Formats: sequence, structure tokens, C-alpha cells
Amino acid sequence: MKALITAGGHGTRLRPITYTTNKHLVPIANKPMIHYALEKIADTGIKEVGIVINAGDVIFPKKIGDGSKWNLSITYIEQPGGPLGLAHVIKIAEDFIGKDSFIFYLGDNIILNDIKPFVEKFEKEKLNCLLALSKVKDPQRFGVPEIVDGRIIKVEEKPQSPKSNFAVTGIYVYDYHIFEAVNAIKPSARGELEISDAHQYLLDHNLEVGYSEITGWWKDTGKPIDLLEGNQLILNYTETKIDGEVDQRVAIQGKVKIGKGTRIIGNSVVRGPVAIGENCVIKDSYIGPFTAIGDRVEIYGTEIENSIIFEDADINCNKRITDSLIGVNATITPVHETLPSGHKLLVGDNSFIEL
Ligand code: G1P
Repeated sequence: MKALITAGGHGTRLRPITYTTNKHLVPIANKPMIHYALEKIADTGIKEVGIVINAGDVIFPKKIGDGSKWNLSITYIEQPGGPLGLAHVIKIAEDFIGKDSFIFYLGDNIILNDIKPFVEKFEKEKLNCLLALSKVKDPQRFGVPEIVDGRIIKVEEKPQSPKSNFAVTGIYVYDYHIFEAVNAIKPSARGELEISDAHQYLLDHNLEVGYSEITGWWKDTGKPIDLLEGNQLILNYTETKIDGEVDQRVAIQGKVKIGKGTRIIGNSVVRGPVAIGENCVIKDSYIGPFTAIGDRVEIYGTEIENSIIFEDADINCNKRITDSLIGVNATITPVHETLPSGHKLLVGDNSFIEL
């Protein structure tokens, strides 16, 4: 069995962060999001992984490498012509997959449970397709199955009147029949080859489409709030590990991870769960629960809670920052005492600021 992971697209709802960073490289609890997908796949015993990236993306392969870190062998597949739908992603991976069965994993999905039971069920029940389902409050946002007597009879993409309260999550297991489906379907009204249409094709052609319910936590991380929630979930599993230097006056409470070369000094409080990267300086500051801070960040005289601070940011503002994403190398300073007074902003396109 092989695996195919998506890591393309434009991440429009995460702009301006995604102008410079592929969404799948955004750090969640100080690790690029895609690491979680790769770890889950490595745990199943699969070795060969294809990752579909935007045409011309040279940074992603450079950052993730050949997969040896996870004992995987990664092949990068460029998607020409921009995002044309998930079924199109499968279509362009046909040469890589060949006649093998495979896990298709959307690189922006985060799941707590192991995914190996899905593969085992797929094999044991000799399915052509297995969909991992999760109960959600807003099925209208997802692919939604209609289930009768324990069998999926229909799958609809973003239906106005959903036939169940399940979302088809971004974790699927297929055999080669999926290629027949993705090659037969036509683009939807939004101009994409929809994965739900491919599933409907399988059902219409009497192929075996089974499902497993994800009972633990599952999230697709499209919006900033989703990233913060994913960050919270993963930080909950942080273990205390202090490799940096912590002043005697500093209070460390709860589970806190502090990387090598980091100094927490002055009158500071760190209340976990918190992850702080390497070579940071934190002085006279409060770092509150569910905050992840990347490498080489400097924070002076500031309170921060429930936020993701990317590497090399510099924050010194005598304010309380919550529920925020602060990008690579961003600077936040106090108001200077020169006139005219006021907040001086150099803000990128599509930024969001609450003053
Ligand atoms: C895609 C699929 C949808 C699925 C969802 C899971 O939606 O089209 O069927 O439920 O991923 O994350 P999109 O993220 O393109 O809105």
C-alpha cells in the first residue's frame, strides 16, 4: 500500500500568512502541520508516499526532504494548472500509485487517533473505498454521506440539506477503481473535480464503499481559529522538557517545553501547556496556556495567551495578546513617544488587526 498526501492550494483563508508560507508548513505546536500527516502514515507501516504540491513550489520539498526522517520515501508530484479539485489530485498521481491501494490524506487534516484500523478494515472487508467519517455540527461545509442500514448509499458535496450529521473527513483508503471514477467525472459548478462525485461514481457502479467513524478529535484547518484549536489539541499532549535556561525568579506552571539556547528571564511567568522553541529570549513576560513560540523569538514585557508565534518574531509591547497568529520575523513594539502619537502599522494585504 502507498499513501498520497495533498500539500498544494493557496490557503486563502489564512492570508497573509500563506502569501509566504505553504499552509501545510504552518507550525502547530512548533511542528509544521504536514509532519502530523507523515507521522500518522509512518505508523501504519506504509513506506512510499507521494506528496502533491503546487507547480513550482521548491520550498516545500526543501523543508520536508526525502522522508527518511520518518523512515518514508517521498516522491513530490507537481499539480499543474492550480487547484482543480481533490479528484484531480488523485488523477495526476495515477502513474505514482499504479495498481496499488493507497491512503489519500489531506495534509491540512489533523486527527488524534491512529489511522491503521482504517487500513485494516479496508483490507479485511475487501472494500474498494473506505471513508473516515466524523460527526460535525455543520455538515453543510463538507462531503456528507447518506447512510441506510449501516451502508453508505449516497455522498453529496456541501449539501444544503445534509442527509446525516457526518462529514466525510480528509482521510480515505482506495483501491485502483478510484482512477476509473476520477477519470469519468466532470467538473462541478465551482469548476473542480469533486472527491464526493468520485465516491458517488463508485456507489453508482456497485463498488464496495465502507466507512469508519472517527470518535476522537478531527479537524480540517482552513481558518485561523482552526489552527489555534489544532494548536491547543496538540499542546495538551506536551510533556515538560526544559532544555533552555530559566531564571530562579521565573514561575513555570503546568506542562512546558523549552528548547535549547532559550532564556526565560526577569519577572516572567510561563503557564502551560506551552511550547517554546530554541534560542528565544523571554523577559518580564507572561506566556499563557496554548501558546506555541517558534525558534529565535524575542518577547519583552508582553502577555501572550492562546497564540502561535512564528520564528524570528520580535514582540515588545506592554500589552496582552490573545488568540493571535504572528508571522515570521514580525515586529510588535510599543508606541514611540514622538508626535504625532498613534499606532504605526505596516500591515500586509489581507491582514487582520484588532486594536
Ligand atoms: C474537502 C472535500 C470534502 C471533505 C473536506 C474534508 O472540502 O471536498 O468532501 O469533507 O475536504 O476536509 P474542501 O476543504 O475543499 O472544502
